[in-house]
Amino acid sequence: MRKSLQKFAEKCPFSATSVKTSVPRRFSEIPGPLELPIIGNIGNFKYAVRSDSKTIEGYNHHLEEMYHKYGKIVKENLGFGRKHVIHLFDPADAQIVLAADGKTPFIVPLQETTQKYREMKGMNPGLGNLNGPEWYRLRSSIQHAMMRPQSVQTMFFYFLFILRYLPFSQIVSEELVKHVAKEQVRFGHVNMQKVAGRWSLESAGQILFEKSLGSLGDRSEWADGLIELNKKIFQLSAKMRLGFPLFRLFSTPSWKKMVELEDRFYAEVDRLMDDALDKLTVKDSDSQNMRFASYLINQKELNRRDVKVILLSMFSDGLSTTAPMLIYNLYNIAAHPDAQHKIQKEIKEDPTSTKLPFLRSCIKETFRMFPIGTEVSRITQKDLILSGFHVPSGTAVDINTNILMRNEVLFSDSPHEFKPQRWLEKSKDVHPFTFLPFGFGPRMCAGRRFAEQDLLTSLAKLCANFDIHHRGEPITQIYETLLLPRGNCEFEFRKL
Ligand code: HEM
Repeated sequence: MRKSLQKFAEKCPFSATSVKTSVPRRFSEIPGPLELPIIGNIGNFKYAVRSDSKTIEGYNHHLEEMYHKYGKIVKENLGFGRKHVIHLFDPADAQIVLAADGKTPFIVPLQETTQKYREMKGMNPGLGNLNGPEWYRLRSSIQHAMMRPQSVQTMFFYFLFILRYLPFSQIVSEELVKHVAKEQVRFGHVNMQKVAGRWSLESAGQILFEKSLGSLGDRSEWADGLIELNKKIFQLSAKMRLGFPLFRLFSTPSWKKMVELEDRFYAEVDRLMDDALDKLTVKDSDSQNMRFASYLINQKELNRRDVKVILLSMFSDGLSTTAPMLIYNLYNIAAHPDAQHKIQKEIKEDPTSTKLPFLRSCIKETFRMFPIGTEVSRITQKDLILSGFHVPSGTAVDINTNILMRNEVLFSDSPHEFKPQRWLEKSKDVHPFTFLPFGFGPRMCAGRRFAEQDLLTSLAKLCANFDIHHRGEPITQIYETLLLPRGNCEFEFRKL
């Protein structure tokens, strides 16, 4: 967690306890679309299929439209007993919500279907689906595994993280360069939809299973199958989230399909986890030399089931996020030759450096322009006053980071343009809760360090070896639980 931001949040003059304002308006007065009995607002998506913003795939456009129509706080009801969700489009409200998080923030699971599936199978729901003390126990062990030892200062933690995990990122990035070169020769272009997935699977293998999975080598077909399975789960999950949730009442064809997909996915991942854990249990070894999974399996407080829950959560969350981010970054780099040359120059000047401030600012700008998620969600644990309205404890709130990060008012300097320079200039008074690609606080993305390091290392290696060009129609985003690339993901990599 960014300490400075945390302090900023704690000192927040608007936090619920310190708010001194006129009487807040009632919850029922929060603006939003007209609700129908039982189905609430869910019909918005199901029937109105003519414009992009009214389809499930255009959910992000729907959010944008609601912001323009109703303002910075909007109430929506997903129907069928799911109560209201409050959409927030103001960083000051985001700050109030996150400042009130406490030690164990509560969230709404990203995929209700995955939570239901795991419960049905008697599995632990996993990190992103848990709340309360069980979440805290598992989450704490991840922090220890990533940032041990505990007794040193924060900056030193980060240094230790790099020292321990950077070599594995580098191995994967070198394999990626070889794989890309081969694909380029074979097909005359590289389909990054496939290659980025193989890359993120290979990286997960190094950290979570502590071995090469061969995804960028002789097992690329196997990797493609697993990635495709995961993609289908995300696609179907989005439809079930925003469609009529009849699967809650009985076993619908969609639910049966979901169970079949999840069964196949878990059978594969279970095999990977069992193989890894059988090999990684060691006696009397120095925990300082252990990688992520072997550290976990050798902790007395964690049993094998706990470790599997953690690995599974990290695996499934990581697989679907870093791969699209690699594609978005390559797209921005290819579409902006000036930026590409600047990155290449920066690397040439100091080939072993991991600082690379300009490349880092390009990655940051890509997070801003192509956020992978539509929101950071929380269930409030206190009564709060948001945009002057009373929001009771126990309400689901979505901080719509994807809108915040491209907002014309908040980013007055060409918010729809790729301008990495903006991150190198002195802050132009952008509210710190405007840019939250990894969320915030104790619940912030558990894989953030891995993701950032993998992106930086691999993009640096690709830019150092190739001139990168994008082919065909521009890449945009489509909502499939996450905001995934839509458009042509074929790139040309010309050897430098
Ligand atoms: C660029 C890639 C990624 C982005 C943008 C991203 C973003 C996020 C966000 C926004 C959250 C919710 C945070 C909050 O509620 O405050 C999250 C949670 C999570 N992420 Fe990531 N993530 C990425 C990659 C990864 C990777 C590589 C892993 C695993 C290796 C991972 C594992 C997780 C887990 C386990 C959670 C749930 C944490 C919890 O509830 O305690 N993520 N991520």
